[in-house]
Amino acid sequence: MNYIGIDLGTSAVKLLLMQEDGKILKIVNREYPISFPKPGWSQQNPQDWYKETIAGLEELLQSCDKSQVAGISFGGQMHGLVALDEQDEVIRPAILWNDGRTAEESEYLNREVGKDKLSKYTANISFAGFTAPKVLWLKKHEPENYARIHKIMLPKDYLAYCLSGVHCSDVSDASGTLFFDVEHRCWSEEMCEICGVKKEWLPKVFESYEAVGTLKPELAAELGISEKTVIAAGAGDNAAAAVGTGTVGDGACNISLGTSGTVFISTKKFGVDGNNALHSFAHADGSYHLMGCMLSAASCNKWWMDEIIGTKDYAGEQQGIQALGENRVYFLPYLMGERSPHNDPDARGAFIGLTMDTAREDMTQAVLEGVAFALRDSLEVAKSLGIEVTRTKICGGGAKSPLWKKIVANVLGICVDVPENEEGPSMGGAMLAAVACGAYKSVEEAAQAIVKRKETIEPEPELVALYERRYQQFRAIYPICRPLFQQLK
Ligand code: XUL
Repeated sequence: MNYIGIDLGTSAVKLLLMQEDGKILKIVNREYPISFPKPGWSQQNPQDWYKETIAGLEELLQSCDKSQVAGISFGGQMHGLVALDEQDEVIRPAILWNDGRTAEESEYLNREVGKDKLSKYTANISFAGFTAPKVLWLKKHEPENYARIHKIMLPKDYLAYCLSGVHCSDVSDASGTLFFDVEHRCWSEEMCEICGVKKEWLPKVFESYEAVGTLKPELAAELGISEKTVIAAGAGDNAAAAVGTGTVGDGACNISLGTSGTVFISTKKFGVDGNNALHSFAHADGSYHLMGCMLSAASCNKWWMDEIIGTKDYAGEQQGIQALGENRVYFLPYLMGERSPHNDPDARGAFIGLTMDTAREDMTQAVLEGVAFALRDSLEVAKSLGIEVTRTKICGGGAKSPLWKKIVANVLGICVDVPENEEGPSMGGAMLAAVACGAYKSVEEAAQAIVKRKETIEPEPELVALYERRYQQFRAIYPICRPLFQQLK
């Protein structure tokens, strides 16, 4: 049988049709707009997600054997607030994971409720992008919208609802709301009370590989596939990407170079970073993970290429970059503020170290390196917790660049295993659907059978040493700029 994985991303929805043995039959990509109505704000229309998903499904299913489609599941951008009214109509545009408007509400939660309490109830503290401070923001700034709330859900859960009619979520995505008791994998009564969220607003939570229902009959007829098509809960995009790259079980690592950049470490044992710099979330394989998330990763390069230099030739632009480890230009990648490890919505992007002989390639290189240095910041936190990461998988749009992968391997000083495909969340979504349909007994079994390694990029000792020095310099820049960023508000 075949399975569909839907990756509801920030710039586009990616749909993937996978055979039971993991062979990818087709991939479809459909973009939708994102709006930044004020600096640091970021929102999207859930209706656009649904419209493009349905159009994408139609395109995906063209000229394939529709009778073979057994299940559909998801990987979705995390933390976004989708609010529905009594008729299940969307109340306002979704406020996304990289939206920093909730700085005040987030600070209120950390200060007034207290980080210790938050961490006890949810295993995490508040970050501006999380869902709970968004609900508080809505209550304060749009009371008329707040008063209409009947259900709140996460982005991919809105799609699951539209496809199945079931209000549902999964443990990995629910972990990023700050309403969820991660250790016990259930909604937190305490947090609902603190945030004024009624229990009935929240959807039922499933494990990521569980079926929530089946495709609505009218949609099944429209798409020409079976009414018995299983809809599985799916996962937040990072947990889904981890499944797609085989980052399951204990102590495996995946780096995602997407719009956001994440360092994802899977663990069988529940644990919390004492400083809460890394998120402690449930994993889609039934266990847990620690994760550092930077808000702008491949999006920094996209911004630099598309908006500033004005080119679509990313590979051509990277061809002139030769002297790795010797660049004296630094780039702070905080174009949307930063989450891990700084938790600072007011942080901003910056180039530092420019001189008259700085060339365009130096700046392009600085952007790629700045993202790698910021990923290392999260890895350093993991190290300080005694977690020794010696190798990682990699996925996401940025992982298509051989140069960027080489920079990451050497800045981090670890082996980078490149899977046969970089599809991450959509592949993981299809694999979760396969598990929900019983094609595999567990997510780990599916990963073992399906995920193959294409190549390994080994760090080069001389380059690692050069980058070590550069990283220490990079690391010194943010603390100096921080007070300035506060003044620039
Ligand atoms: C994770 C996070 C991002 C989004 C990107 O905490 O906010 O990785 O999930 O879609």
